[in-house]
Amino acid sequence: MPTNSPITTNNENIVWHQHAVEKSQRSAQKKQKPCVLWFTGLSGSGKSTVAGAVEQALFELGAHTYLLDGDNVRMGLCKELTFSDADRKENIRRIGEVAKLMADAGLIVLTAFISPHRNDRAQVRKMLPETEFIEVFVDTPLAICEQRDPKGLYKKARAGEIKNFTGIDSVYEAPKSAEIRVENGVQPLSQAVEVIVNYLKENGYV
Ligand code: ADX
Repeated sequence: MPTNSPITTNNENIVWHQHAVEKSQRSAQKKQKPCVLWFTGLSGSGKSTVAGAVEQALFELGAHTYLLDGDNVRMGLCKELTFSDADRKENIRRIGEVAKLMADAGLIVLTAFISPHRNDRAQVRKMLPETEFIEVFVDTPLAICEQRDPKGLYKKARAGEIKNFTGIDSVYEAPKSAEIRVENGVQPLSQAVEVIVNYLKENGYV
C-alpha cells in the first residue's frame, strides 16, 4: 500500500489512485528524507520562533521545507474552528493530513500548534511512516509563557475574557517521550536550533 493511501474511507466507491511519480522519487530529487517536525507546547512557549529559526537554518542548508503555523492556519484552512476540545481535535487532524500530503510531496514539514492532547498528537503520528513523525516539545514553564504574554492573551484569560485557554482553564498534556525536547525559556534560541538541525543531520533527513 503506498504511504499516502488512506487507511480507511467512509465511502466504498472511492478508490485510491496510484500516480506515476512517487514519493521516493520526489524526495530523491530534493536530496532529502521527508518528515514532519511536530512542535508542541503552550501558547507563548516559542514554538513558532523556534520552528521559524529551524526552517531558516534548513533553508540555508538547501533543504526544501514548509512551516505550518497555528495562528496562520486558523485564518484559513481551520477558520471556523473554536478552542473546544472537539475543534482542537479537528484542527490537529486537518493539519496532520496536510502535513502528510506535504511530506508525500517530499518536503520537510514543520508544524507549530499547541496540540494540547496527547491522543491527538498520537493520531497524527499513526498517519505517517514510523520515522517521519518527529515530536519536538518546546518545554517552557507556564509562568514564563504568562510573563512573556506576547499577544496579551493570558491577561485576558485570567480576567475571564477568553474561555478554554490552554494552561489556564484548558489542559496541556506534555509529551512523555518526544524525540526532541528544547527549553526555550532557559536555552538560547541558537542552541535549540542546533539540537534540532543536528538531529536531522544525524538521522539522515538532510
Ligand atoms: S490548538 O490547541 O488547536 O493546537 P493552535 O496552535 O491552533 O491551538 O492555536 C493557538 C493560538 O491561538 C495561540 O497561540 C493563541 O494565539 C490563540 N488562542 C486564542 N484563543 C485561545 C485559547 N482559548 N487557547 C489557546 N490559544 C488560543
